[in-house]
Amino acid sequence: MPLDRKPAPNDLRAFWMPFTANRQFKSAPRMLVSSKDMHYTAADGRQILDGTAGLWCCNAGHCRPRITEAVQAQVGELDYAPAFQMGHPLAFELANRIVDIAPEGMEHVFYCNSGSEAVDTALKIALAYHRARGDSARTRLIGRERGYHGVGFGGISVGGIVNNRRHFGTLLAGVDHLPHTHLPENRMTKGQPEHGAHLADELERVVALHGAETIAAVIVEPMAGSTGVLMPPKGYLQRLREITRKHGILLIFDEVITGFGRLGSPFAAQHFGVVPDMITCAKGLTNGVIPMGAVLTSAAIHDAFMQGPDHLIELFHGYTYSGNPVSCAAAIATLDTYAEEGLLTRAAQLETYWQEALHGLRDHPNVVDIRNMGLIGAVELASIEGQPGKRAFDIFVKAFEAGILIRVTGDIIAMSPPLIISEAQIDQLIGTLGDVLKTAA
Ligand SMILES: Cc1ncc(COP(=O)(O)O)c(C=O)c1O
Repeated sequence: MPLDRKPAPNDLRAFWMPFTANRQFKSAPRMLVSSKDMHYTAADGRQILDGTAGLWCCNAGHCRPRITEAVQAQVGELDYAPAFQMGHPLAFELANRIVDIAPEGMEHVFYCNSGSEAVDTALKIALAYHRARGDSARTRLIGRERGYHGVGFGGISVGGIVNNRRHFGTLLAGVDHLPHTHLPENRMTKGQPEHGAHLADELERVVALHGAETIAAVIVEPMAGSTGVLMPPKGYLQRLREITRKHGILLIFDEVITGFGRLGSPFAAQHFGVVPDMITCAKGLTNGVIPMGAVLTSAAIHDAFMQGPDHLIELFHGYTYSGNPVSCAAAIATLDTYAEEGLLTRAAQLETYWQEALHGLRDHPNVVDIRNMGLIGAVELASIEGQPGKRAFDIFVKAFEAGILIRVTGDIIAMSPPLIISEAQIDQLIGTLGDVLKTAA
């Protein structure tokens, strides 16, 4: 291609967009050109209220000065340092900062670049951990129906969202799934649902089927986000913890969405009072500004690898950009912003206001369920017969035209605004969605 070729600004052909209806988008693009605090600016100059924190990641809102300045300064100071056999101070500082806010018992941090990589990293650590302890028959991985763990082969294998799996062959062998926790009797529950703790006992059935000595780890989202926001039933996570512990199975919480304040505590593990053996995170770690993910592990897991001659690599895993200086600078500035503004607990303060506003939509056309916790909420709609997903997608498009950004999965609308949202902005977000639901009916 000649160097002076300048693509026409309206030439949208080359970019194959991820998880997007490409043809629909390119026929009527929804372009965002700038952002500040709670708002995006669309290409036509309209202000769009961000009801989703980007993709569940901009927890402190957009273009926050501390983070912007930290990234700008770091690029000019130390742009990159080799991630293997070399270090730089920020990576160590950040790991300590993460451990400081992590649940008791999470003592080590392994860096990667996304939620998907965090999941694959955690699954690999689980397998290698058992092997390092001489328990190498433990190779099975257990996920859950409707789980979302990113798009790597590990993540889609333990994941349970059918469309993310069915096109991609046979996936990892030796994977089984627990049932999802979406029960009709929990409809319109505010916060954690009453029914469904018994679904954790299905793990006993899986253990009986395969033998505990073949199972390495169970991975679940403590609150399932991408599938359409499913809260864990009361007691469910506690039971999973008891059963995994009883059988020597590692428990991994995928906190890529719930990490960094979404439910009103730094991590969901603290919110629910259940500490797993590993936590995956990403997104809010850098406020979405620079890609970064991490796996937090217990000391027992880390220490199991620290054996053999000390010149040998203990874990044969890592990425060129693991803990790169610019990501670390973004993450440290993000944690500073969260701390200064009390954002990691702000969702707890706003939860009741958010909940009441959201449940005010219950009698709107086609609404069949509403679910909420912290600053996250879902409105499930009845599907149009023969056209699953169509109703919510149309509402998503109309909502954007009306000045709010929401997300849809199938016929479920999900919202997870930046944690800096005001009560007036909650009213605007939910009020506008309510108007769109009425006019779209
Ligand atoms: C629970 C969970 N795990 C993993 C991922 C994948 O993260 P990424 O898109 O950064 O790979 C996501 C993304 O939404 C997620 O919600």
